[in-house]
Order: sequence, then structure tokens, then C-alpha cells
Amino acid sequence: MKEKLLIRMTILLPFLILAIGEKEVKCTKQGESISRALIDHQVNKTILVPGGDVYDCIGVSVQPAFKHPLLKNHKIQMEPSSLPLSAYPESPSMHAIPQVQLPIIECPTGTIPVLRNNRRDRMAAKTINEIVSKDLQQEAAGIQYLDELYGTRARINVYEPKVKTNSKDTSASRIQINGGEGVGRRDALGVGSWVSPSYSGDSFARFHVYWDDGSPTKACVDHDCTAFVQVNRHVGLGGRIKPISMYNGPQYEIDILIFKDPKTKNWWVAYGEKNTPIGYWPSSLFHYVKDKGDSAWWGGYVQGPTASTDSPQMGSGHFASEGFGKASFFKNIQIVDNNNKLVTPNIYTAHLGSTNLSKYTTDGYEVNNYGLHMYYGGPGDLV
Ligand SMILES: *[C@@H]1O[C@H](CO)[C@@H](O)[C@H](O)[C@H]1NC(C)=O
Ligand SMILES: *[C@@H]1O[C@H](CO)[C@@H](O)[C@H](O)[C@H]1NC(C)=O
Repeated sequence: MKEKLLIRMTILLPFLILAIGEKEVKCTKQGESISRALIDHQVNKTILVPGGDVYDCIGVSVQPAFKHPLLKNHKIQMEPSSLPLSAYPESPSMHAIPQVQLPIIECPTGTIPVLRNNRRDRMAAKTINEIVSKDLQQEAAGIQYLDELYGTRARINVYEPKVKTNSKDTSASRIQINGGEGVGRRDALGVGSWVSPSYSGDSFARFHVYWDDGSPTKACVDHDCTAFVQVNRHVGLGGRIKPISMYNGPQYEIDILIFKDPKTKNWWVAYGEKNTPIGYWPSSLFHYVKDKGDSAWWGGYVQGPTASTDSPQMGSGHFASEGFGKASFFKNIQIVDNNNKLVTPNIYTAHLGSTNLSKYTTDGYEVNNYGLHMYYGGPGDLV
């Protein structure tokens, strides 16, 4: 009897440490299997996407987010109370490059798609060690913005950088809003395109939203964590982005907007030229971005156990100096100011940089017809 208890304690310990050391929300595999079991009872329709992804359509009001203790009495907000206003009309040339197609799932009204990650579930046992591991390397190249903001919008040129299949590293192109960095803890909200073989079980560029509370372990991604409230019944988080840009070939981009709802203070994610809302992180979840963010990031980010010692590609895998059609870019970078207006960030509070110029670079930093613009990326150690 005693032995049994001991064994159970040993297994539970890593989870307890996580639960006590960090916030209540943790993307442990255990949490996932619990929500999986709950989800199974509430599946309205299951949709198989060509290529093998499986989405479950789940009632919008019983989605994973509402398992969070802080969201027990949360009243769902089905649409933003307003969108940030454009400070200037967009020039037609802005739309010269076609938009990528986000994974579109035809869930019935009143439900939202939740990805069933079969390939990853099979790796569940391994991931526990990964989560408690402190062995995290990271590199980044892009623009850091250091001033208050209430949202950001940018067009991200989407590529599929090469990441070694057996490496557990991730290569992402993303926009992120941060708060609280100076106090040693933080909240970070981000959206972007990732290649992460160990997370998704393949090497495709996939669309993700995440909340990162600054713990060195793992971010809360899509619906893995009980945090993101999705209202859009079509956009499949975690799904493949198609088509992707080709080196010296056709380019594709995605228009992403993150903004704070001026009335409810929830942080919304919207996409496309029409700013179609996808969903939001309820403001009650946060400590450091309750009212606004205090910095932002646009660019490439690689992380994982070998992200510095055997770095994956970033962006197109080519250096920024190669320019349009070859190097990956961000354009029309804007922030939402305290008047709920989208404006070009002050370039004097924005800093361009890379953690290691022999792997990744930045270039073409300017304000032009496409707003604030930048090229970034590189081969990493995959030369
Ligand atoms: C499917 O969703 C609809 C709308 O929310 C609901 O009325 C219906 O009961 C659901 N069916 C199942 C099997 O959950
Ligand atoms: C940058 O990357 C190169 C090539 O991998 C490596 O030799 C060098 O030590 C790195 N520099 C820094 C500052 O990490």
C-alpha cells in the first residue's frame, strides 16, 4: 500500500512543481489528456482535413478555455466591441502580394474547431521530461519595440524554414506583445507561423496563437491550454498554412492583428484584410498586460535544445540582405496607440537586431509605402 503511494507521488511530483512554481495554467500532457477526455463528450462533428489533420467541432461555450478556474463565470464575447481605426487609408499596392489561406474548417454554427493532434499524442510520454527541462536555447532576429501599446498589426511573409526532424527545435515567424519584463515575470501574447517537428509531428508551417507567462518551459499554444477563447467557427488553430512562399518564386503573406478590446480589455486576434476576428484571451488571465502591453516583437525566433548549438533555418533560410523574393519580410508593421488608432511605430523606440549575425540577419528597415518594413532570417547552422 505504502509502495503504491510512493510511486504515485513520484509520478505526480513534476506536475506539482509545475503547478506550484508557475501559474495554474500549464500545458502539461496530463492537462491535455484531461481536457481530451472532457472534449470527447462534447464533440459535435469530427472533420478530417486532406493531409491528415483531424478537427473536432466543439460547442463554443464548452470549449477548453472554460475549464480554467478563472473563467468559470466568464461571459463569452462573440465579437469585438470595436476594431482599432486605421490612421491612414491603405494604398492598393499594399495588397499586391496574395494572402495565405489559413486552415478553414467547416464547423457547424455554435461550435469551433479544435485540432486533435494524434501524431503528438503518441509522443506524450517523452514530453514530460521536455517540459521540466531547463535546457532551452534561443536565437532571434527582428524588431523590438520598447514603448506602451494596445495592439499591433503586421503582414508576415510565410515560409517553411528547415528544422531537423529529430531536434525538438522550433523556428517561428511571429508578432508578440509583452508586459512585465522588468519585474522578472511577464505575460507575452503572440501569433505566427511555426515549424516545430516535435510539437506538431511534421515539418509544415502551421498557424498558432500562444500565451507565454515567462516560464522557461513551454508556452500555452492554441487550445492546449485552457486560455484562448475562440469564436470563429472556421479557423483551425494549429493547422497548416497554405500556400507558402518559395525562394525566388511566388510570395505569400498573412495579415495579423492583435488588439485590446477598449471595453472588455480582452486581447483579440484577427486576420486578413477585413480583420476577421478569431478569438481572444480574456483579460482576467493576465497579470502584466491587463491594461496594455509595454513592448512588442516582430521577427524570427528559434528555440529548443539545439537552437544555438545546431540552429535551424529562420524565415526563408536566407540572409536578409538578399531582399525581396529571397529573404523573408515583415511589412506594414503598426501598433495600436492609446486612442485605439493603428499607427506606424516611432522608429526611435524600435530596435533592429539579431542575437547572432553569423546565423541570422536583419536588413531593409525603413518606413515606405508598405509602412514599417524589415527583412530578416538566415540559414542558422544549416549552411
Ligand atoms: C451540436 O451543437 C448544437 C449547437 O450548439 C447543439 O444544439 C447540439 O446539441 C450539438 N450536438 C451534439 C451532439 O453535441
Ligand atoms: C554565433 O554562431 C557561430 C556559428 O555557429 C558561433 O561560432 C558563435 O560562437 C556564435 N556567437 C555567439 C556570440 O553566440
